[in-house]
Amino acid sequence: MTEINNEILQKMMERALWLSTLSTTKTYPNPKVGAVIFDDSGKIVSEGFTQEYGGDHAEASALRKTGFAANGLNMAVTLEPCNHFGKTPPCSEAVLKAGIKRVFIAKREENPKAQNGAAFLTEHGVEVRFCEEFAGKTEEINRFFFKGIRENLPWITVKTATSADGFITKKIGEKTLITGDPAQIYVHGLRSSHMAIAVGAGTVNIDDPLLTVRRIQGFDPQPVIFSKTLNLDINSKILKRDPIIFTVSGEQEKLETLGELGCKVEVMEKDFRIIDTLRLLFGKYRINSLLVEGGAKLIGSFLSEGTVDEFQILRSKAVFGGGVALFDTIGLEIFKRNYELKEKRELDCDLLEILRKIK
Ligand SMILES: NC(=O)c1ccc[n+]([C@@H]2O[C@H](COP(=O)([O-])OP(=O)(O)OC[C@H]3O[C@@H](n4cnc5c(N)ncnc54)[C@H](OP(=O)(O)O)[C@@H]3O)[C@@H](O)[C@H]2O)c1
Repeated sequence: MTEINNEILQKMMERALWLSTLSTTKTYPNPKVGAVIFDDSGKIVSEGFTQEYGGDHAEASALRKTGFAANGLNMAVTLEPCNHFGKTPPCSEAVLKAGIKRVFIAKREENPKAQNGAAFLTEHGVEVRFCEEFAGKTEEINRFFFKGIRENLPWITVKTATSADGFITKKIGEKTLITGDPAQIYVHGLRSSHMAIAVGAGTVNIDDPLLTVRRIQGFDPQPVIFSKTLNLDINSKILKRDPIIFTVSGEQEKLETLGELGCKVEVMEKDFRIIDTLRLLFGKYRINSLLVEGGAKLIGSFLSEGTVDEFQILRSKAVFGGGVALFDTIGLEIFKRNYELKEKRELDCDLLEILRKIK
């Protein structure tokens, strides 16, 4: 067999990684995967990525375009082909049957149910090579998926807009528009990349947000509201979007009214913790990623329990000199100690800072 030159392999893997980013939140519980079928000279014959759950995995999506016939061709795929019957047949078998002679894989499958695709292919005479140098990028694209597999918890991103001096609103009890248009479009992209979005009762009552994806094409995340008392403005727009509400209130009248509106109210133990709600979101509602959009009290609750994986802070140049601070003294201390800067980028006149939890 002729060797694939490194430059071609690099290109095919980069292409497969890019394809994997086209998968949406609807692929879950499947990971986001990209696959490229190519000949020895590096000519791309077909490509695909994971479709909505129940649809084709990346390998099948690419093979479908060749009529599941790819004799003597190569495949670059970002995750080890699955080896089990789920909603669809095993990709390992489809790859073998199509006649693919060589498979290049960026990352090993960790899901015990789907493992051993590479071993199956090797046993049946297909050459398999792991390209570990691309494993990190696959992990990053699938960080929500892998957190779910490893910890049975959703990935938590906190997104917040602040003034240069760290306030999320100018005056207590009021909404302040902080960032410019590019930052707002960016936030809609963030929303569409997460399965759910959370706010506290304060934000519901003051901002009356919809929390939908409007500035770009994408799926709306499932709204989640935290309110111990259920003192929610019953006319709030978000209540018409069938939110999940975490409360400790036993007030029947309120519970019935919210139920009639279509809200899924979870009445928790009096001393419940954020982690209990995250277990429910992951286990019962099958949510693997949650974007927390505020306000300060809710963010403080998530932060103090160590549940936040990533902060995305959009900082404007404006100085407020007062208002609702993003962090209180203890929160600021926890934040400084546990998070490190991963990326910094200008979005027109605003600054985006992405910080990750230090492992
Ligand atoms: N700049 C931004 O990015 C941004 C984003 C969002 C909001 N805001 C601003 O922030 C302000 C509101 O902030 P806020 O801190 O007052 O409101 P908030 O955090 O949205 O809501 C506070 C309420 O959320 C509930 N809550 C918080 N932690 C909870 C927990 N662990 N368990 C259960 N319920 C919990 C409580 O409701 P109960 O009282 O019912 O128990 C609490 O009173 C508004 O002015 C809004 O405009 C700014």
